[in-house]
Amino acid sequence: MDDTSRRYYQLRETAHYLQQTVGYIPKVAIILGSGLGALADMLEFPISLSYSEIPGFAAATVQGHSGRLVCGLLDGEEICAMQGRFHYYEGHDMATVVFPVQAFATWGIPNLIVTNACGGINLTYKVGDLMLIRDLITLFCPSPMRGENMAELGERFFDMTTPLSEEFMEMARHSALEAGITLREGIYAYAQGPHFETPVDIRLLRLLGADVVGMSTVPEIIAARHAGMQIIGISSVTNMAAGVMNKPLDHQEVLQAGIDGAERFAQLIRGIVARM
Ligand code: HPA
Repeated sequence: MDDTSRRYYQLRETAHYLQQTVGYIPKVAIILGSGLGALADMLEFPISLSYSEIPGFAAATVQGHSGRLVCGLLDGEEICAMQGRFHYYEGHDMATVVFPVQAFATWGIPNLIVTNACGGINLTYKVGDLMLIRDLITLFCPSPMRGENMAELGERFFDMTTPLSEEFMEMARHSALEAGITLREGIYAYAQGPHFETPVDIRLLRLLGADVVGMSTVPEIIAARHAGMQIIGISSVTNMAAGVMNKPLDHQEVLQAGIDGAERFAQLIRGIVARM
């Protein structure tokens, strides 16, 4: 068997394991970013699987990411939520980073909500803001689809004209309005990390039109688009990006800001899931 066939075989095995263990296909998968994991604790009838139990999943290593897939009911809707994700900066290859998304697509989950902590580049943004991702700067991200195409999932060359679903964006706007939450809309730029950017990196990204920057999300959205999923992305501004404020960046602050925003964030997600 070649590598691509082996990989697809592994995805099928993972999807089969999840179906056997969980017993239903969730209508949406949610990837919870740094400090945003609390949503998974709100699920009813939770089935919690440590990544180490799930065939094909790597182990999570980042502080603030617990490394569990929790399936259950959110206001009566079957969903699954990743508490913790795989990042390129941990040393994983991109294939490992996007493995869960591809496994969800193979399982038959049609929809994906991707969330993240990010640094604010747009000078009108504040710490604690939530931002609907309208588009992405993918150019600094090694493509997770590099290598032989897995034709069972999607096409070799695939469209990225609307990486994020317009329909879901509209649901998010309604959900935010209903909950009285201010929701920004903007462009997410990917940076590999694990170092935070320099002030000049941030000036460059601002020139390119980025509103926020983060070290995740883009690989997963690319893989989900490849596999034909409908996607929505929500960013939580946990700090202003390098050089915006006159002080160094700190991961503890990023985690704390995520936790502080968790309530509003959960409300927004609930509204979106209810409308899907
Ligand atoms: N830069 C990159 N990634 C991040 C940041 C940042 O400032 N904050 C949270 N994730």
